[in-house]
Amino acid sequence: MTRRVLVVDDDAAILEVLEMRLTAMGFDVTATRDPQAALAAVDGARFDLALLDLRMEPVDGISLMEGLHERQPRLPVLIMTAHGTIETAVDAVQRGAFDYLTKPFVRDELRAKIGRALATRRWARDRERLLAVGQTLASSGVMDRVLDAVAQATVETTEAERCVVFQLQQGRLLPMASAGSPPTTFPGVETGAIVAAPLLVQRGPAGALVIETPARVEPTEDDLELLALFSSQAAVAIRNTHELERLRSGALAALGRMATQVAHELKNPLAGLRLYARHLEQRLTKSGDGDGAELAQKISATVDHLAAVVSEITAFGRPPELHRAPVALHALLDECVSFAQARIETEGIEIFRIYDPTAPAQAMLDARELRKAFLNLILNGLESLAPGGRLTVTTAWAADTKTVTVTIEDTGSGMPDETLSRIFDLFFTTKPHGTGLGMAIARSVIDLHGGELTIHSTVGQGTRVIARLPIDAAPRRAEGKDS
Ligand SMILES: Nc1ncnc2c1ncn2[C@@H]1O[C@H](COP(=O)(O)OP(=O)(O)OP(=O)(O)O)[C@@H](O)[C@H]1O
Ligand SMILES: [Mg+2]
Repeated sequence: MTRRVLVVDDDAAILEVLEMRLTAMGFDVTATRDPQAALAAVDGARFDLALLDLRMEPVDGISLMEGLHERQPRLPVLIMTAHGTIETAVDAVQRGAFDYLTKPFVRDELRAKIGRALATRRWARDRERLLAVGQTLASSGVMDRVLDAVAQATVETTEAERCVVFQLQQGRLLPMASAGSPPTTFPGVETGAIVAAPLLVQRGPAGALVIETPARVEPTEDDLELLALFSSQAAVAIRNTHELERLRSGALAALGRMATQVAHELKNPLAGLRLYARHLEQRLTKSGDGDGAELAQKISATVDHLAAVVSEITAFGRPPELHRAPVALHALLDECVSFAQARIETEGIEIFRIYDPTAPAQAMLDARELRKAFLNLILNGLESLAPGGRLTVTTAWAADTKTVTVTIEDTGSGMPDETLSRIFDLFFTTKPHGTGLGMAIARSVIDLHGGELTIHSTVGQGTRVIARLPIDAAPRRAEGKDS
């Protein structure tokens, strides 16, 4: 999309030069000597930037800027001024100009200031978007709960014995929610009727709402109508979730950009701080001030910790490329469990590992990234446990779909819907010393592997986190062939 720049200057020669340069920089330029024409232009279209001459007759640049801002409040304005009127230029900035440019123009300065004005405007837009999305998210539920409620309502209002909501995922119908008595027979044997209503999202099939009636109960017209009603509700829930997911990834991207910017600004001062603290430590050690040196060392350690957080955030701004290599998944999980265990002080916690022996011994995965993801998931589980709590790590291999499902289940505090619906948001944490990055990182790692992360949680009972990972078994090495 070409960006629109408005240029107003009463000097025809300067106007012409600017129009040429800006057009050459790829902007869609509206250049005029007439302030009224400038106001009319902003009435007619949104601009991305305005360059206004400070000294103009009869309307000066600052008054014109104020007129433009009434029409487009956040339009970034660069005020142009000749040497010697810097004070007025500073005044212009105080009254809402983004920056000023001194005439005659220095090419690089022009380019740099325009670039900065446009980038800053983008941050402002991102913030607005985040706010809007935040409000949407705050008022939204969790899809699992909505589907559960639909299944429950279906059973309660029809004569169905049970109801299952299926969702179509990668060409397969997966049961997402159910209500009523658990199935005791195979469908068709000794049961009544089975009726299915499709879930239609944007005219395409997204799943089905299926009821099963007791033997000899024929579903009535009423039942069918109710079924249609509930299936459309379930479809709305699914559509909302898709929509949310889209918004959320936009918001995440915006947050990521903002975080990266902040991290970037912090990097250099932190490096400076670290250097000073080291100097201080050396000096104090030399002068025999042991306590002082210890304090200085604590400062270094804290700065190191900050620097590590900053580099993690910077890394989050651009998701890593995966470096896949043969990885023994079970060993990796073991490693994460012992790392996590070492960090937890709660007494009497039991950890169970139930690994599927049929899973491929080695798979092509990114061990570094997965370690980050599983470590956080296991830590979260352990952190939620009270003394005597239990954490179970399970793997299950499905040869037909070539996926390993890793389940991390705790008998901890569980979480309310409010927390659950924000769990993947960057910086969302309920812990006094949490960073709120863990789940966002875990999901991005699993996503990058082409997998899927889902969470079920009940307050007071615990949480189950399920990571489905498609697996390419690692190619066997030549020497292992005949073993
Ligand atoms: N297994 C769990 N049981 C209960 N609550 C959980 C569980 N996992 C995550 N949460 C909730 O989700 C929030 C976000 O988790 P996330 O891992 O992203 O950040 P964090 O653990 O708070 O901080 P960090 O992982 O960065 O140290 C947690 O603060 C907690 O409220
Ligand atoms: Mg965590």
